[in-house]
Amino acid sequence: MAVSRRRFLERMMYGLGALMLPFPGRAAAAFPAFSSPFAVPPVDEGTRSGDTLRFDLTARRGSRTFLPPHATSTLGVNGDYLGPVLRARKGDTVEIRVNNRLGEPTTLHWHGFILPASMDGGPHQQIADGGDWTARFDIVQDAATLWYHSHQYHRTGPQVYQGLAGVFIVDDDASDRLGLPSTYGVDDFPVVIQDREFDSAGRLVYVNSMPERMHGKHGDTVLVNGVVRPRLEVSRGLIRLRLLNGSNARTYRLAWHDQRRFSVIAGDGGFLPAPVSVSELTLAPGERAEIVVDVSDRSPILLKGLTGAVRMSGMMGMMMSRMGFDREMDILVVDPAQAVAGDQRLPDRLPTRVEALRPDLAVAERSFTLDMRMGMMGGGTGGGNFTINGRSMDMSRVDFRARPNSHEIWRVVNDSPMPHPFHVHNTQFRVLARNGKRPGGHERGLKDTVLVNGQETVSLLVPMGPYADPDTPYMYHCHNLEHEDQGMMGQFVVA
Ligand code: C2O
Ligand code: CU
Ligand code: CU
Repeated sequence: MAVSRRRFLERMMYGLGALMLPFPGRAAAAFPAFSSPFAVPPVDEGTRSGDTLRFDLTARRGSRTFLPPHATSTLGVNGDYLGPVLRARKGDTVEIRVNNRLGEPTTLHWHGFILPASMDGGPHQQIADGGDWTARFDIVQDAATLWYHSHQYHRTGPQVYQGLAGVFIVDDDASDRLGLPSTYGVDDFPVVIQDREFDSAGRLVYVNSMPERMHGKHGDTVLVNGVVRPRLEVSRGLIRLRLLNGSNARTYRLAWHDQRRFSVIAGDGGFLPAPVSVSELTLAPGERAEIVVDVSDRSPILLKGLTGAVRMSGMMGMMMSRMGFDREMDILVVDPAQAVAGDQRLPDRLPTRVEALRPDLAVAERSFTLDMRMGMMGGGTGGGNFTINGRSMDMSRVDFRARPNSHEIWRVVNDSPMPHPFHVHNTQFRVLARNGKRPGGHERGLKDTVLVNGQETVSLLVPMGPYADPDTPYMYHCHNLEHEDQGMMGQFVVA
């Protein structure tokens, strides 16, 4: 690969700089509070037999020391907290056996995948305690960072909060050819961001107040891959972070402490048409974004969640800030003290199918109004407080039917004062507009979850996927897990 003149000059400069300014020792490292080693989750690539890739997962209870000296009771998949990064290729058939050893029923949902409804792992594929369930499906979509998590009816919030989630990476040939940072654990890292609340004995504290029931669970401690205040030491000058907001309810406005720009290369469902250079990125619960950061200047940088991630007015806004729901969060330090600048360059164009999703393909239009009833919030989960089109989730009601392989335009109207990240199963959609304007950043790519702020309207072009099943529904819902558990969810069949 040819080295550009700019790169050459940069390398000369950093080389000279290193000679003139010796690096401070470890003790003087910037951001000393970030001293825990960054956790690189284990990768599970399954066991191949023929063209089937088999995975064996067990959901179980565990214990993890997040805040020494306290051990915290947790849930995990093949481990104490969270699960392995599952990895498969487009064209593979995966067969994933899920054993439930939790002591309560659960499910595992493959978030972002296009797959038959009976394999989706939603509330209808419940696994009894002590039982197991096998999902089998073809990977028909392009390279992307997807994830999996519990989708237990009325219990998704508490189960994910305790750790029942993990990342699922899909690879493909087109993405292999791009020359992007892609050495796992070296210059390519999953980054699962979750806010949690711990009591003085180190126990996880779940929803315990009326405002939290309304806004969803927010915590003051951020975990990254299950670690508090991690330091990611890297040896490469260009690194790729696969960000997943795995929080129950908190939206993050992510930025580096020195406001450096970074490139967003992918959203929920795969690559954007081209890298987008930004200085901040808003990520709502359920959303993913892949970013590439240049750290060849060798300065440690702190990833922050800034205030003002969501827009809320009046009483709701006041409650947000009073309760610490909109606090600034320090998330992760990347320490490139030993990094060597490579000659990697981002491609100008990236492979994506988003541009093939044109509005003129649509054969149906639907509208979804998200709403909530105020002043009735004491009812716990399963109440009728959060609604879509005036109705709360009912397992026995199918809200509509769509045609396989068709495209629909969905208008999602938020009639409530608070934000709702709207998620649809079995699809990667295109965001056509937010309040009439074309979206930017990671919203230019294929998505399965989109943030809809109070009083906003987003319009989506939603492809329906090829699988027909008149009896098993897919879900659409708010990915604020407390809102989902309290009824802001509906069901559709493709048939
Ligand atoms: Cu990530 Cu229906 O869920
Ligand atoms: Cu999903
Ligand atoms: Cu919501």
